[in-house]
Amino acid sequence: MDSFTIKGPCRLNGSVSVGGAKNAMLPLMAATIFTGGKCTLTNVPDLRDTRTMMQLLEVLGIPSSLEDGTLNVDASKVTSFEAPYELVRTMRASIYALGPLVARFGRARVSMPGGCAWGPRPIDLHLQGLKALGAEIRIDHGYIDALADRLKGAEIILSIPSVGATVNLLLAAVLAEGMTVIENAAREPEITVLAEALKAAGAIIEGEGTSRIEIEGVDEIKPFEYRVIPDRIEAGTFAAAAAITGGRVEINDCEPAHMSAVIDKLRACGAEVDVSGATMIVTGPDRIEAVDLDTGYYPAFPTDMQAQMMAVLCLADGASSIVEHVYSDRFTHVPELKRFGARITLEGNVAVVSGVESLQGAPVMATDIRASSALILAALVAEGETRILRIYHIDRGYEKIESKLKAMGASIERISG
Ligand code: EPU
Repeated sequence: MDSFTIKGPCRLNGSVSVGGAKNAMLPLMAATIFTGGKCTLTNVPDLRDTRTMMQLLEVLGIPSSLEDGTLNVDASKVTSFEAPYELVRTMRASIYALGPLVARFGRARVSMPGGCAWGPRPIDLHLQGLKALGAEIRIDHGYIDALADRLKGAEIILSIPSVGATVNLLLAAVLAEGMTVIENAAREPEITVLAEALKAAGAIIEGEGTSRIEIEGVDEIKPFEYRVIPDRIEAGTFAAAAAITGGRVEINDCEPAHMSAVIDKLRACGAEVDVSGATMIVTGPDRIEAVDLDTGYYPAFPTDMQAQMMAVLCLADGASSIVEHVYSDRFTHVPELKRFGARITLEGNVAVVSGVESLQGAPVMATDIRASSALILAALVAEGETRILRIYHIDRGYEKIESKLKAMGASIERISG
């Protein structure tokens, strides 16, 4: 298993380019399933999750190839309707196969995703929504079977604005008969662009980006081409890296409009953030100021930036509170950050971070994509050497992070094996 060795402290200085958004690309890849033809996605990052989704498409009979950020998918034929456990357990977004398969082919068999490092992560809302659209859902031997002659439009009220449920139901409803309304839908930019791509391919959708999405079902979704939007979490992670190291980082090819809550918090910490078009220049302060933050659904502060921001606040002048509202126990990075000498107390979904003057390098373990990036941030400023184990988590969501950081002055090496 690969690991990173990082020597600190360092002050990042330079520029970095942000890749396409993992969480926008995965739904778009799933949407190719029902097009019956050849689709092309550009600005596709070469991540472990991209490769896992390509494998899933392959299992369904859909070959694809990725070269220089261009993903060609040939969905002319679908020969299987089953997403096996081996793939779903490595990437929960495999559940996105459910909506398109049942909508177009009337059947789908997808392994139940199970829990993850920070909690149960249920999919009840996906299943309730599909039932409302007329699918018959059975669960046995760890698999979900969904069957339907043709889905029928319905009014669905989500109790939580779940990104995944909104994606799956949007993908199902575009081919359902009649009108579907999703109330309390997720408003994340990743949903908006999925709807945009589907509309360009023949879908009739209104209200994407708001809490109420209306979908008038059509008979066919045509093959499509789409450019994946910049990854707001990757951009946010580099911005946090500039802040924590007191450096200056020019972040190119990003979409600052999707990052308002993160930019606001970085400014509140004392970082300077200059935005101009698709570029953001972030200059870290001499000493980080303590801030309180609450995660929430878009446009609130993203849970996917909570761990990175916690790393930054470990060095703040004073105490900060972080309340996690999306996943109440997404705190696996806390004990690892403490290994650097951070002072954090955790009670329920509230972490209180009492800033310290400096951190010390330590052997630590990555537990999920964002927790891993928080450990990298801490390691950049920690005195001495840090070894981060299990970095396959980071490879799921960040392309070539070590070369991007190295180019800005970090001392980071990947150790294979
Ligand atoms: N929830 C339910 N029932 C459901 C679905 C969700 O109770 O059927 C709850 C979850 O337990 C959670 C909340 O609803 O408390 C929100 O979960 P959501 O469904 O929005 O999350 P997701 O779709 O599983 C996506 C991202 C995550 C990101 C969350 C929240 C993808 C592939 N994943 O997950 O990204 O944290 O939205 O924004 O888009 C990451 O990239 O590191 C990552 C974990």
